[in-house]
Amino acid sequence: MSAAPEELEQAFDATVAADQRVEPRDWMPEAYRRTLIRQIAQHAHSEIIGMQPEGNWILRAPSLRRKAILLAKVQDEAGHGMYLYAAAETLGVDRAELTEKLIESKQKYSSIFNYPALSWADIGVIGWLVDGAAVCNQVPLCRCSFGPYARAMIRICKEESFHQRQGYELLMAMMRGTDAQRAMVQDATDRWWWPSLMMFGPPDGDSPNTQQSMQWRIKRHTNDELRQRFVDMTAPQAEALGVTLPDPQLRWNPERGAHDYGEPDWEELKQVISGAGPCNQQRIAHRRAAHESGAWVREAATAYAAKQARRATEGAAA
Ligand SMILES: [Fe+2]
Ligand SMILES: [Fe+2]
Repeated sequence: MSAAPEELEQAFDATVAADQRVEPRDWMPEAYRRTLIRQIAQHAHSEIIGMQPEGNWILRAPSLRRKAILLAKVQDEAGHGMYLYAAAETLGVDRAELTEKLIESKQKYSSIFNYPALSWADIGVIGWLVDGAAVCNQVPLCRCSFGPYARAMIRICKEESFHQRQGYELLMAMMRGTDAQRAMVQDATDRWWWPSLMMFGPPDGDSPNTQQSMQWRIKRHTNDELRQRFVDMTAPQAEALGVTLPDPQLRWNPERGAHDYGEPDWEELKQVISGAGPCNQQRIAHRRAAHESGAWVREAATAYAAKQARRATEGAAA
């Protein structure tokens, strides 16, 4: 005999309230499932699209050591995308369908990857600020109420914090170099600072889904809380590095025990999210081309799997 709908709902609420994990086989509200699919798909797409600005620098890395590090980092991002697509699939969607939605611009990815990586210093700054912001955003997701997502995030966060450090280490090396190298680091910091703050999403007053996501314990902190955490973490790192964050309002506030900082340009964020950022079209066109040129690999793999399955049944029958 199956349980009544209200009993199922109560069991779900109790699991969430007790900070236990909801697993794919458990009953869950349809809106919870849809929210998770949207969020995990968006996250997976961000990992994959995020390979582009950095992948573009692999051939131009200044030494074999830097090339090996960057190659490993970009491969990590591909791995993150794979874990996350697999987590989304436990909710009853198909990875191929999610990829279609991405290249048809029906699902989003993080706004940050619509900015170009213009110099080698950008590679360091992306690691420091972009992976740094990702760590702030993602560490609380390790305690997300949906089991497969939470477990994927544990592994991913370990790698993201390595990414953050490699970026910072690259920048330290450049800051010990020439005046021209230091100027490149400052220029890259100036360009990436505000877009990094926007990675946490719109301000709390303008983020309608936050309350529900917090109730479901998908999200643990609001956008503004996470943004503040990032600013507080990053300001002393900038000082140690010897770069200036491009915000004249940034200062330590002893009463709040936190940094005050200026308002990001929310209009710019809206523009970038709606498709009018500097690289939106290029990113999607590149992803689409990669998907289309990989069609023969998918076909070959499917044919091979079918052949293996046929042989296995024939072998069993013999
Ligand atoms: Fe990643
Ligand atoms: Fe990363």
